[in-house]
Amino acid sequence: MAVRAEEPGVAARHGVEAKLEYCKTCHGLSGQGYRGYFPMPRLAGQQPQYFENQLRAFIERRRSNPIMANVAHVLSPAMISALAAHFKALDPKPFGSAPHGSSELGKRIYEDGIPEANVPACSACHGADGKGQNEIPRLAGQLYDYTVGQLEGWSKVRGQGSAVDTSAIMAPTSHNLTKSQVEAVAAYVARLQ
Ligand code: HEC
Ligand code: HEC
Repeated sequence: MAVRAEEPGVAARHGVEAKLEYCKTCHGLSGQGYRGYFPMPRLAGQQPQYFENQLRAFIERRRSNPIMANVAHVLSPAMISALAAHFKALDPKPFGSAPHGSSELGKRIYEDGIPEANVPACSACHGADGKGQNEIPRLAGQLYDYTVGQLEGWSKVRGQGSAVDTSAIMAPTSHNLTKSQVEAVAAYVARLQ
């Protein structure tokens, strides 16, 4: 069988496109997220290193989620990198699911933390603009319900098993925030572009 030199590349590209379509049935056509029965997080503009870390965590069940464990376990490392690069380049407007009101308190928590409760400024790691870097995720434009759910359930979902991973960095902060503080900071980052 004669195989021309460009064919493996064409085949690989086709495979990535088919997979992307699948991801977007849940995560939205431009990766902006979707508010379904579960909140589907925004992936657009996400830091590739964080993105890849999370897919590995789903595969290894360090981050427990039955849907994403099934989605991720078939992905090769090369496919994971290609998907991460694609979503990083997308830049839709925030989904706009946050309730109005509390975002002034949210901004204060984001920028200054809550020293008396041992909550550091989120901006120190996630950046003043919420774009994140390397293994630190982008929070800007993230769906309100998703962020609230992650911060409230952190230690039940992340860092499972005996291996210590990057999720440990966020564990104390998620524990030290009250419910209303979580809601305020989630509303604030949901609106960041
Ligand atoms: C059937 C729906 C569905 C499909 C299809 C799907 N996802 Fe997800 N994905 C989810 C849900 C729900 C979550 C949130 C999990 C949680 O709450 O921990 C998620 C979370 C993620 C996260 C973690 C985001 C974060 O901010 O931590 C990444 C990365 C991700 N998905 C990538 C993908 C990729 C890449 C594909 C395609 C190969 C894909 N997903 C397909 C439903 C889906
Ligand atoms: C010391 C650095 C640091 C500080 C300070 C910090 N974070 Fe994080 N945050 C991280 C890292 C690293 C991760 C990724 C954890 C992982 O890999 O599971 C993360 C993850 C998150 C996630 C999960 C995002 C997603 O897409 O699932 C949320 C939400 C979050 N942080 C919110 C906050 C808020 C709100 C604050 C301030 C009150 C804050 N963080 C302060 C380092 C930090």
